[in-house]
Amino acid sequence: KSVIRKLWKGDVSARMLSVHLQRAQKNYVNMNKHRAVYGGRRKTQLRGRELLCEMKKQVHVRTLDGSEQPFSGLGWDRFVPTRPLEQLYQAQFSTCAVVASAGAILNSNLGKEIDSHDAVLRFNSAPTEGYEKDVGNKTTLRIINSQILAKPQHRFSTSSLYKDVVLLAWDPAPYTVNLHKWYQSPDYDLFRPYVEHRQRRPAQPFYILHPAFLWQMWDVIQGHTQEEIQPNPPSSGFIGIVLMLSLCEEVHVYEYIPSVRQTDLCHYHERYYDIACTLGAYHPLLYEKMLIQHMNIGSERDLKMNGKVTLSGFSTVNC
Ligand code: C5P
Repeated sequence: KSVIRKLWKGDVSARMLSVHLQRAQKNYVNMNKHRAVYGGRRKTQLRGRELLCEMKKQVHVRTLDGSEQPFSGLGWDRFVPTRPLEQLYQAQFSTCAVVASAGAILNSNLGKEIDSHDAVLRFNSAPTEGYEKDVGNKTTLRIINSQILAKPQHRFSTSSLYKDVVLLAWDPAPYTVNLHKWYQSPDYDLFRPYVEHRQRRPAQPFYILHPAFLWQMWDVIQGHTQEEIQPNPPSSGFIGIVLMLSLCEEVHVYEYIPSVRQTDLCHYHERYYDIACTLGAYHPLLYEKMLIQHMNIGSERDLKMNGKVTLSGFSTVNC
């Protein structure tokens, strides 16, 4: 609980975590599976608009367009949506909701407020059915990791969760963004299910996020942090927040930074308890959340009582 209070203040360290989570973090640092090495300067003092501007400058939403090898050789320019993500919407959304899947959103009564936004982003297999009162029922976009596409239990090709929404999938590539290596050995095979789905539903906007975009975000998180963060891509939640910062004038993020309702319940839709879901083991979640707190323009009350952070979209800041 004291870590959560520190998060509300935007001042956290791995030392505040349990021995178990600290050890997990160290193991990921030592393993460095994706060979991530931060080469930039550290600007740990940036807050608010300055930090947002840094992010706007360093991070550019990008999807696979089939123009690079090995994808160009495989004819992927024919598989990706004809309309690029940047051109999918005529104008910026006025306000958007990002709904983290944390258990703490249960009993929040936030459903109506969430649905009142122009666009709502959800993650992975998080449902709305049966949870409308707390999470709403509108879904505009959904970010999915490669496990959703690859593991049969998610029934990606048949589940209604993945229909009638804009889909964005991601998978970690090497930090050097070697697309050949990535294509040969993704964490989970997302490429085959992607092509199959594109052929089955060519009208559905479905993109794969470019790994360069993921590592740009990682660079900003590490560049903003004094400690050595997990050398793994940011969580879907952070990816989604940055995506919406580029699509919306104002972004409202729910239960990403935990409210007073926080418990060890991992997801609102599953009876599985693990504090790592909230504070991070594989993902540099603790540091992601600190960075988001540093850009919050919402009230302290909204943060603590509603688990809500408000951010200005990239288009509205003059850098
Ligand atoms: O677990 P999953 O990645 O599907 O959840 C979606 C996102 O919601 C996460 O990537 C993370 O950013 C956020 N989340 C959280 N705390 C939790 C569960 C999820 O911040 N307990």
